[in-house]
Amino acid sequence: MGWYDADIDRVIITEEELRGKTAELAKQVAADYASVDGLLLVCVLKGAVMFMADFSRELGKVGGPPVELEFMAVSSYGQGTTSSGVVRILKDLDRDIAGKHVIVVEDIVDSGLTLSWLLKYLESRSAKSVDVVALFRKPEAIKVPVPVKYVGFDIPTEFVVGYGLDYSERYREVPYVGILKPEVYQR
Ligand code: XMP
Ligand code: MG
Repeated sequence: MGWYDADIDRVIITEEELRGKTAELAKQVAADYASVDGLLLVCVLKGAVMFMADFSRELGKVGGPPVELEFMAVSSYGQGTTSSGVVRILKDLDRDIAGKHVIVVEDIVDSGLTLSWLLKYLESRSAKSVDVVALFRKPEAIKVPVPVKYVGFDIPTEFVVGYGLDYSERYREVPYVGILKPEVYQR
């Protein structure tokens, strides 16, 4: 029992499902990238940290190419919970990505605005190829078409927490993904 269990209205993805899907995605990526000599995984902080950690290890276990890990932090300008599409870099890549095969490791694609900006940015830095693996996608919330090659789960347009995803910086350590009780937002 975690402190957070009482705040969760319903679990939408269990730990087991997360594990299974991560392994499945890793197998697909390992197969598709079997002929490359290295892969640069770019994690978008902070939401994707858990997924990055598990996905990268899974990729190694299923015979994927050697990986390097990079982290970026971005924030969308504008107020409220919806992103504006104008993105500010809070933490840039530490290294040059020119000529590298890059996979963006995302937690969740909502409107697609953040990711769409990020893909243009990575392409402008002369990556050899850029693909995206997103653990979650909210298909009904998409505002801009964005090519996400690997998707874990399509979920309803509801706010979810857990496995890296937060509400007000909390709940990231929740091992499953769920929806908060309405009263949590009134506190
Ligand atoms: P866009 O709309 O640009 O935004 O695709 C994607 C980013 O918004 C955050 N996001 C969420 N965070 N629970 C969260 O904790 C959610 O249900 C949720 N939906 C979107 C997330 O940072 C994602 O990268
Ligand atoms: Mg957040």
